[in-house]
Amino acid sequence: MTTAETYVTHISLVDGERGELRVRGRSLEDLVRLSSGELAQLLLGERLIELGTARQQLAPQIRALLPWARPLQPVEWLRLAVDAVDAHTPARLVATLGLALALRRQPQAEADPEADHAEDILRMALGHPPEHWQVAALQAYWACVAEHGFNASTFTARVVASTGAGARAAVSAALGALQGPLHGGAPGPVLDMLDELERCSEPAHWIRQKLARGERLMGFGHRIYRRRDPRVEVLRKACQATGRLAERLEFATRMEALASAELSAFKPGRPLPTNVEYYTALLLDAIGFERQEFAAVFAAGRVLGWLAHIEEQRRSGKLIRPEARYLEAFD
Ligand code: ACO
Repeated sequence: MTTAETYVTHISLVDGERGELRVRGRSLEDLVRLSSGELAQLLLGERLIELGTARQQLAPQIRALLPWARPLQPVEWLRLAVDAVDAHTPARLVATLGLALALRRQPQAEADPEADHAEDILRMALGHPPEHWQVAALQAYWACVAEHGFNASTFTARVVASTGAGARAAVSAALGALQGPLHGGAPGPVLDMLDELERCSEPAHWIRQKLARGERLMGFGHRIYRRRDPRVEVLRKACQATGRLAERLEFATRMEALASAELSAFKPGRPLPTNVEYYTALLLDAIGFERQEFAAVFAAGRVLGWLAHIEEQRRSGKLIRPEARYLEAFD
């Protein structure tokens, strides 16, 4: 008989029933008050004091790789950078993802080792000092996505780490798991969907037709959260706090209600609440990122969670090797 394996972690609790997230004992509301440096400290311990130095040292290496970045999707480019530069410590891996994101946009930007990570990455990515609301928005976003249990990319990282491979190989594999639209890649398509809804005269009809064609509404549904994804409300508030999204936010909130009503009529037994990606789309767009970059911005925040799990898996010393139940196939 096969039994489903339950994994144990001390890093976070993703409570699907209550719609709650706790990271190292802290609530999501606590996490969004942390700077990106404090968040890194919480997930990875003391070592990230080296983060600023890592940004400064790795920037020239990443710049030298930029000729190879052009034909790649942003997440593929991040993976290339992770595999190619001297990124053998957690601080260097965190720095690499942020730098790759920023230097792809602004090749000549220089890192400031004294600055907070989010602020420095944003300054480099935009090519000028960010406004306070932009830094606060990126910090809130990274706090929401830094860690989230055994999701697809984190589990991938743990599987690779469980073989005894190093953190760099595990982060590279996690980036591969992020490339599909079902995990992490939804905020770009959410924005496309909102654009289409804005253009059409009968949004409810548009949604119904989309569902009838068997297509999914991006930014809705979650494997664990069945009632509510707690990150949605935090991100909606972060959108409000920018002070620049009033009209867009009002429209998105109206479309959320409309789509939720259509989804519950279409799948009465299957709650499909909005997920983290829905308001992320608005927030990252307002900060100034392009929609094809959204998954890479997500990765640059989620890398903290990946690294915490890689370390926890390494310490356990156990190989992850699930059993499959074989069913004889008869045509
Ligand atoms: N729109 C329409 N129908 C949906 C949606 C959706 N967003 N999500 C699930 N369904 C339907 C499925 O078609 C399926 O119907 P069926 O039983 O008739 O085949 C049923 O609901 C169950 O779907 P599953 O894929 O089994 O549900 P699961 O819990 O595995 O899916 C997932 C979770 C992948 C997030 C899904 O809800 C989805 O594809 N959402 C859209 C993509 C998205 O927003 N991804 C971001 C997730 S958050 C993150 O990864 C950071």
